[in-house]
Amino acid sequence: MRTIKLGSSNLDVPVVAVGCMRIDTLERREAERLVHGALEEGAIFFDHADIYGNGACEEIFAEALGMSARTRERVLLQSKCGIREGMFDFSREHILASVDGILKRLRTDYLDVLLLHRPDTLMEPDEVAEAFDELEREGKVRHFGVSNQHPGQIELLKKAVRQPLVANQLQLSITNATMIESGFNVNMENEAALDRDGHVLDYCRLHDMTIQPWSPFQYGFFEGVFLGSDAYPELNVVLDRVAERYSVSTTTLAVAWLLRHPACMQPVVGTTNLDRLRECCRAADVRLTREDWYAVYRAASRPLP
Ligand SMILES: NC(=O)c1ccc[n+]([C@@H]2O[C@H](COP(=O)([O-])OP(=O)(O)OC[C@H]3O[C@@H](n4cnc5c(N)ncnc54)[C@H](OP(=O)(O)O)[C@@H]3O)[C@@H](O)[C@H]2O)c1
Repeated sequence: MRTIKLGSSNLDVPVVAVGCMRIDTLERREAERLVHGALEEGAIFFDHADIYGNGACEEIFAEALGMSARTRERVLLQSKCGIREGMFDFSREHILASVDGILKRLRTDYLDVLLLHRPDTLMEPDEVAEAFDELEREGKVRHFGVSNQHPGQIELLKKAVRQPLVANQLQLSITNATMIESGFNVNMENEAALDRDGHVLDYCRLHDMTIQPWSPFQYGFFEGVFLGSDAYPELNVVLDRVAERYSVSTTTLAVAWLLRHPACMQPVVGTTNLDRLRECCRAADVRLTREDWYAVYRAASRPLP
């Protein structure tokens, strides 16, 4: 699979990441098929979080992969911490304890990437910096990043944290593209002009942070899949037409639409179905024309100014 450098790092990562949030719905055999099928596609980058399935997703993954010193070297593992029941927690103690739990469940002694999952307003940047230094010194984490953070929050972290923040995982899909929409409507008196994220798209490009779009097939907050949905009749007509032109499925097209953005994104797809995962991976080889990218955008979003 085509690769990009993750943020400002030297780490080559496949452009499609495999999200593991839903793999606790799989039987053991199915999980094995998914994980090994992903590897055959070159989809060797797996996204986890300590909270997925309450830790079960990381365990199921390690079991399905057949984690050993040899298999560990064939994969890139990212996990996230900082969300707790009823609160967010970026304290040094919580970050360190979370990573130890993650490593144990994944049966490895290091993570390629650790992301802070969702902003904690009680965060002390110095504590995060201490935790990151310790994790790096002990070889437990090789690269660091954030998720769901706006530029001000990232700048605040950077006051104390020494390591480059290489990725920002954000909700982004054809039907959840406010970060793109606000950029088209600068200074206008309409809803679309609302800046909901501090211009995070341009910030990440300026600062060489890879955007990892999460839930690339969902509309709303996990309300459903927009492909084939009655909620998006016009969009689906356009998706069908454009997909046919490239001889790909609409699943491939939805990922290719994200990959066409010059921000060099790495979508995190959450399917547990190997055939669908293969279709997602195929998007790495599809480059949409400007006309087709905009046609899809127009069918999903408010009119261009
Ligand atoms: N950082 C964060 O705050 C955050 C939040 C949420 C998720 N994430 C990450 O993002 C990953 C993806 O999230 P997600 O699972 O919500 O995203 P998704 O890829 O948009 O949705 C996947 C779900 O849609 C279903 N689906 C139905 N038709 C589909 C089609 N044609 N193509 C693809 N999927 C289809 C899948 O079912 P089947 O399994 O049957 O295919 C699966 O249940 C997660 O695994 C996690 O790693 C991060």
